[in-house]
Amino acid sequence: MTQMALQGPIPVGIDDIAFATGSYRIDLASIAPRLGADPAKYYKGLGQEQMSVVGADEDPVTMAAAAAKKIVDRAGVEDIRTVIFATETGIDQSKAAAVYVHELIGLPSNVRSVEMKQACYSATAALQFASAVVARNPEEKVLVVASDIARYDMNSAAEPTQGAGSVAMLVTANPRILALDVPSGVFTKDIMDFWRPNYRSQALVEGKLSISAYIDAVQGAYEDYRSRGGVDFTEIDRFCYHQPFTKMAYKAHRMISANLGIELTPEKEQHDLAPSTAYNRLIGNSYTASAYFGLLSLLDTVPNLTGERIAIASYGSGSVAELLTGVVVEGYEAQLRSEENAAVLESRTELDDETYCAMQQVTHEDQGEYSNVEAGANLGNGPFSWKGVEGGKRIYAAR
Ligand code: CAA
Repeated sequence: MTQMALQGPIPVGIDDIAFATGSYRIDLASIAPRLGADPAKYYKGLGQEQMSVVGADEDPVTMAAAAAKKIVDRAGVEDIRTVIFATETGIDQSKAAAVYVHELIGLPSNVRSVEMKQACYSATAALQFASAVVARNPEEKVLVVASDIARYDMNSAAEPTQGAGSVAMLVTANPRILALDVPSGVFTKDIMDFWRPNYRSQALVEGKLSISAYIDAVQGAYEDYRSRGGVDFTEIDRFCYHQPFTKMAYKAHRMISANLGIELTPEKEQHDLAPSTAYNRLIGNSYTASAYFGLLSLLDTVPNLTGERIAIASYGSGSVAELLTGVVVEGYEAQLRSEENAAVLESRTELDDETYCAMQQVTHEDQGEYSNVEAGANLGNGPFSWKGVEGGKRIYAAR
């Protein structure tokens, strides 16, 4: 269906989008025996096949810089006036990870750099922040990077929903991929379904509660979206949900459709939702980046999307949700990196369970005041590396 974007005076939206992920992967069938599970529970029950795993010298900063580098390599650094780093696995309580990315990708000094947090939601808040900056001055461009490593306690029910990844987006006026609609819907409720206290590097989670909290929040966000002039659910062509595991997107879409009295045939579900789940099925949960991996997966795997209205349904435990929409811009294909993206996923080194378990024991928070990460085993192969800690300062470099 060809749609007109519901916009302000100037179209604002996503001009470029790129990703990076961990250099390793593990098939969930390899962890199933240790967890006493049938692999089908993960493949079918959770809709997950693999998880990305970071190398010893990879972290949310190196992944974010690797994703952002693809954008500046193509577009240059000119006119980027803001870089926003969205994460729930930040590496410092004070300094914004955006400042490290700013340095690594060679942005000039006349740039504002900031970090945003609200569980898996903050990339969507960053997109709204970016859109407001650009709407105010259409000459400016904003780089949004969402980057996370999902970690839960090993051998817990949540362990198969780990993952790692980063999505970078360039937000501009007259965007070449997705023109965002002005109406969006938001929802906040104080609920303890998932959180990570400062003393922990693994998240704590009330798994079942988190599933119902997610659905309630996205439903609430849709109702707000509609009341603000957003289109009816039936006028949205494709949906990109936050995907802690891909089955979660199906659960939410089915429940919201049923609540709205919309018949969802298997064919319609396949059309509306399935293409957005291909990348997350192989990467696992990437928290803030997950809904945008959904968008990338849709753009890379379905041809001829011009004029279609896409919904991003963003959920961050705790909880905040936002539903926003945009219309795919004619000629968007020229901005994609579909073959390169498939090759990145394919090139990750496959791990066995023993090696993966050993790698998971080394958490970045355990590194202390001095450490030499580079001296260890299982390094990554991306363009940037985290070299270690010197006097409490994290050191990054181009590889
Ligand atoms: N073959 C096929 N399916 C099987 C199976 C088999 N052999 N065995 C089990 N299943 C199915 C189950 O029926 C179930 O499906 P339904 O949900 O459709 O009924 C599914 O596999 C999962 O089984 P369980 O419910 O028994 O799984 P679990 O209790 O071991 O853990 C979980 C599931 C609660 C999601 C857990 O992985 C978890 O806590 N994950 C982290 C929290 C999370 O991701 N929450 C999502 C919402 S919150 C959010 O989105 C923010 C965020 O990023 C964290």
